[in-house]
Amino acid sequence: MKIVPTSIKILILSVFLLIQNNYSQEVKNSDETNECLSCHTELHPGIVASWNDSRHSMITTGQAMKNASLEKRVSSTIIDSSLQNVTVGCYECHSLNADKHKDSFEHNGYKLHVIVTPNDCATCHEVEVKQYSNNLMSHAYSNLVDNSLYQELIKSVNNSYCYSNNKLSIGKADSLTEYESCLYCHGTKVEVTGFVTKETDFGEYIFPVLDGWPNQGVGRVNPDESLGSCTSCHPRHDFSIETARKPYTCSECHKGPDVPAYKVYEVSKHGNIFKSKSEEFKFSNVPWKLGKDFTAPTCATCHASLIVSPDNSVIAERTHQFNDRLSWRLFGVPYAHPHPISANLNNIINSEGLPIATELNGEPVTKFLISKEEQQIRNVKMKNICNNCHSSEWVDNHFTRLDNTIKKTNEITYESTKMIMDFWKNGYVEGLPQGKNPFDEEVEREWTSVWLFYANSTRFASAMAGGGDYGVFADGRYQSTEQLYKLIERLKFYNKLFNKK
Ligand code: HEC
Ligand code: HEC
Ligand code: HEC
Ligand code: HEC
Ligand code: HEC
Ligand code: HEC
Ligand code: HEC
Ligand code: HEC
Repeated sequence: MKIVPTSIKILILSVFLLIQNNYSQEVKNSDETNECLSCHTELHPGIVASWNDSRHSMITTGQAMKNASLEKRVSSTIIDSSLQNVTVGCYECHSLNADKHKDSFEHNGYKLHVIVTPNDCATCHEVEVKQYSNNLMSHAYSNLVDNSLYQELIKSVNNSYCYSNNKLSIGKADSLTEYESCLYCHGTKVEVTGFVTKETDFGEYIFPVLDGWPNQGVGRVNPDESLGSCTSCHPRHDFSIETARKPYTCSECHKGPDVPAYKVYEVSKHGNIFKSKSEEFKFSNVPWKLGKDFTAPTCATCHASLIVSPDNSVIAERTHQFNDRLSWRLFGVPYAHPHPISANLNNIINSEGLPIATELNGEPVTKFLISKEEQQIRNVKMKNICNNCHSSEWVDNHFTRLDNTIKKTNEITYESTKMIMDFWKNGYVEGLPQGKNPFDEEVEREWTSVWLFYANSTRFASAMAGGGDYGVFADGRYQSTEQLYKLIERLKFYNKLFNKK
């Protein structure tokens, strides 16, 4: 199929790339990668330009391995020598572990795959990949899809509806809707459903047909069975650390009203300073120096980054686990509780057989959750970061308020849960006791809003110092109590209708 004189193109390109590479050391691409570039520079100038901007194109893996430990951006200690002497090019990524990939296809004499997975990145970044597997995010697909209670929520939001004979009923699910809805963020299961032949400018080619793709959800199930997509925070092909450290990256999924971390951050003092000063911040430096490279924290600072003081002493280690500084699971379904021990939540079950980590009265099911001591250890790690910019009293008082907010919002959730249980018990609407969907009646939606939107928003505002409106009049305390009024009015109405006290 090679109808283009690739050798000439390769020669021109190699010279071009050597000039382009402004990295001080001399680097070279593999011959295979130069071959990819010979066609793809024309086919996908966007992809190639972005790769040219990446560190992957500027340094060889072997050179990168020699950096001092705090500056190192590759964490694997054993990397195949064939990968060490060249840049990380198209071929180096798209050909890794070909035998494990159901999406592998023959392409110009090479066995390649489109979806470069965490398992492939692990060749050079094994620490990040291992840590990420302990992050709730990497299990976000099955934590949602394999949970029977959450299934009911998915149905009531995504499925088709049908009205007839004075009844509204929930109809069928369709996967294309789910890919755009819940699974956009949680991740799809990408499956190879066949292969297709396409006519291109370079001749006929065979490509895999991928169902559930494109998708960059954090818990995507990949064709090599690995979990997650590193691209959710490291958009290709520049894979820049700067992007990952800026809060916009996280805002794609953490926006709300159920998960409003970004909105809260945006209106916090931290977000305010970030917006005013970020042009002076140095977002690409490794390690990241607090006070010098930045003066206000972003999401990454508090949750993930390796941070050092101006004299290079380590304040926090880098983590892709993202929860080893979190003592709580603030996101309550329906109650907030200590953080789960395992990121895979599929075994969790309460005494009533529901797949959630609290009882319906809010008691945590402790055997699935971290201990008080572990909560303390994680809280100290987080505080350790704050304490470099704040006094310990400021920080301690902040977390005392957070503990109080968790208690108060859980209490309100319990009051609303007692009411919805009375609706169910009296048969006014059908829900959990009847084995029916607990999210598909108006009063059930009102109850759901108490915890899903308003208790969660209030806690996020409290945790991330955006204590203004998101915890009060915009999706906060005002709205929670408003739901209580609605529920009690409806309950009184039904009681009267059915002659109950
Ligand atoms: C002779 C030209 C040529 C060479 C050499 C070449 N490709 Fe391609 N490649 C194509 C064409 C044409 C397409 C189809 C583009 C499209 O459909 O938009 C393609 C598509 C792809 C895709 C996308 C497949 C999909 O299903 O979405 C990937 C990934 C890819 N090439 C990687 C590579 C890599 C890696 C190399 C080097 C090992 C390489 N290509 C070498 C011509 C080439
Ligand atoms: C939820 C967002 C998120 C996801 C998903 C994610 N990362 Fe990161 N990554 C970050 C952040 C934030 C940083 C910056 C850390 C810092 O400042 O020290 C980072 C930094 C890195 C770095 C640079 C390390 C260094 O020493 O400079 C590498 C390499 C990396 N990530 C690899 C990966 C790999 C591989 C995956 C997939 C398993 C992945 N990341 C998934 C957010 C993410
Ligand atoms: C560091 C590893 C890495 C390198 C180097 C790399 N890719 Fe990719 N590539 C990826 C990842 C990750 C994806 C995203 C797949 C997904 O998860 O959807 C991707 C996606 C693609 C796609 C499909 C994306 C789309 O929008 O259709 C093409 C085509 C592609 N790469 C071509 C190339 C070419 C050409 C080069 C060399 C210039 C290259 N890649 C270098 C990791 C890499
Ligand atoms: C063959 C080895 C190799 C593979 C495979 C690889 N990387 Fe890298 N990665 C590197 C090297 C080398 C660097 C640059 C190190 C340096 O500059 O010191 C790097 C740097 C990075 C950085 C930091 C960029 C910055 O701006 O500081 C991120 C993020 C990253 N890689 C993500 C990924 C992801 C995601 C994948 C998989 C899709 C991947 N890498 C696959 C070798 C690799
Ligand atoms: C815009 C991105 C996004 C979409 C779309 C989305 N979610 Fe989420 N979801 C999140 C985030 C972010 C979290 C984690 C929040 C946190 O940790 O504070 C989450 C967590 C959850 C959890 C908690 C899982 C656990 O850990 O127990 C459930 C349940 C959930 N989502 C249900 C859904 C349902 C049902 C849909 C579709 C109707 C959906 N989500 C759509 C971003 C999203
Ligand atoms: C593509 C969507 C997406 C992006 C981008 C994203 N997240 Fe998430 N995040 C999620 C989902 C979904 C969950 C919940 C997973 C679950 O509960 O099963 C989550 C969970 C989390 C958690 C809880 C992890 C744990 O183990 O307790 C933290 C913390 C978090 N995200 C922070 C971030 C930060 C910081 C960024 C940006 C650097 C980010 N996320 C980017 C979707 C995303
Ligand atoms: C000043 C530090 C700080 C910043 C900045 C920050 N967070 Fe947080 N975040 C926290 C604290 C503190 C908690 C609660 C800690 C605990 O569990 O004890 C938290 C909790 C979370 C959780 C876990 C919620 C849950 O359901 O368990 C997520 C998700 C999250 N943050 C995402 C983000 C995102 C996204 C951003 C940026 C838009 C961000 N954070 C900015 C400090 C911060
Ligand atoms: C890199 C420095 C830095 C870090 C790290 C940091 N902060 Fe801040 N924070 C600031 C600055 C600067 C202000 C603005 C102070 C002022 O104007 O008085 C601020 C403001 C605040 C406010 C006041 C919000 C308001 O508007 O009333 C709270 C609360 C707060 N931080 C809590 C925390 C907590 C908790 C942590 C750790 C989880 C933390 N900060 C980490 C720099 C930081």
